[in-house]
Amino acid sequence: MAASYRLVAMACFLALLVCTTNGQLSMKFYARTCPNVEQIVLSVMTEAVRKEPRMGASILRLVFHDCFVQGCDGSILLDNAPGLASEKDSVSNKNTARGFEVIDAIKAQVERACNATVSCADILALAARDSVSLLGGPKWPVPLGRRDSTTANQTEADNLPSPFENITSLISKFAAKGLNAQELTVLSGSHTVGSSICFAFRTRVWGTEPNINPPFAIECRKNCPASGGDNNLSPLTTPNTNRFGNQYFKNLMIGRGLLHSDQELFKGGAGGPTDRFVRFYATNGGAFARDFAAAMVRMGNLGPKTGNQGEIRLNCRRVN
Ligand code: HEM
Ligand SMILES: *[C@@H]1O[C@H](CO)[C@@H](O)[C@H](O)[C@H]1NC(C)=O
Ligand SMILES: *[C@@H]1O[C@H](CO)[C@@H](O)[C@H](O)[C@H]1NC(C)=O
Ligand SMILES: *[C@@H]1O[C@H](CO)[C@@H](O)[C@H](O)[C@H]1NC(C)=O
Repeated sequence: MAASYRLVAMACFLALLVCTTNGQLSMKFYARTCPNVEQIVLSVMTEAVRKEPRMGASILRLVFHDCFVQGCDGSILLDNAPGLASEKDSVSNKNTARGFEVIDAIKAQVERACNATVSCADILALAARDSVSLLGGPKWPVPLGRRDSTTANQTEADNLPSPFENITSLISKFAAKGLNAQELTVLSGSHTVGSSICFAFRTRVWGTEPNINPPFAIECRKNCPASGGDNNLSPLTTPNTNRFGNQYFKNLMIGRGLLHSDQELFKGGAGGPTDRFVRFYATNGGAFARDFAAAMVRMGNLGPKTGNQGEIRLNCRRVN
């Protein structure tokens, strides 16, 4: 009896050791060291989204661009510094990545409550979660304990999925991160909120793509001339409500995806590898909410730095 108890205790101890050295995240990571962190993030995000609903979308995009570049380590938040080329200057982020001031505001409040304890990477993961729920989407528990990078990788950021890519290449970029074609599809449902610059969809609405609704193309050209107006903004999903829902998928089914990469998810007549997922989410909003939350947790767990790796940045814009 005593021996078997010891065996169990030993197994538990080993499991704990494996878990910590394996870099597992935990729901209770700041339970003792910063119990109010989630409340602080939520209060700042609530005010930011109330002032500008699109800010929720912008923060959600930031976590994707963070996690796909050397893991969810806050690397996207770093400004240029000697020997450090900021990811903010990459083709994928330049002129479009935004919301950094909101993350700074959260970080400042969190530092006041618990100095040098909560990582910028965790703050970003929580802020993105709150963005979605504040915009009417699902809410999910965020495992915490990520540590911040001391480096950035602009080249990797240049290589983030682009709006000009085809479905094969999108699937393979997600597969390289351990995310499957259904997760690519459900996560792209983020484009139910937020906007895009004209530059990112000009070739789609002025081109000769068969897979676009013709009246939709004409409508989009109004705010995105054949030349000039590169930074003009149009909603990724019309009608633009900035509310989280499955309208994006309904639009794809009628050729009203704004980005080429959006419409690649649904080929219709020609048939594409992700068509069935688009059909599924277009008709099942509940499944979209549920699968989106699960996929966000999976994306949020990409290559986290834990234990003694990285650091807890005091200012999200620079290494300590
Ligand atoms: C599948 C590959 C993807 C491509 C090629 C792509 C591309 C883009 C582009 C070009 C924009 C417009 C940015 C701008 O002009 O401001 C955009 C916006 C956005 N993306 Fe994606 N995206 C992809 C996947 C994702 C994922 C996985 C997420 C989140 C989980 C996401 C969230 C967003 C959001 C919320 C916006 C709106 C941002 C704003 O209004 O500030 N995207 N995306
Ligand atoms: C926070 O902690 C850091 C590192 O431990 C220290 O350098 C800094 O002075 C502290 N700041 C405040 C406001 O306590
Ligand atoms: C950036 O990432 C690429 C590809 O993963 C790698 O080859 C390169 O060495 C990295 N550069 C820096 C500055 O870390
Ligand atoms: C998709 O894009 C890749 C990379 O640009 C290219 O090599 C490939 O031929 C394209 N595939 C199709 C089916 O167009």
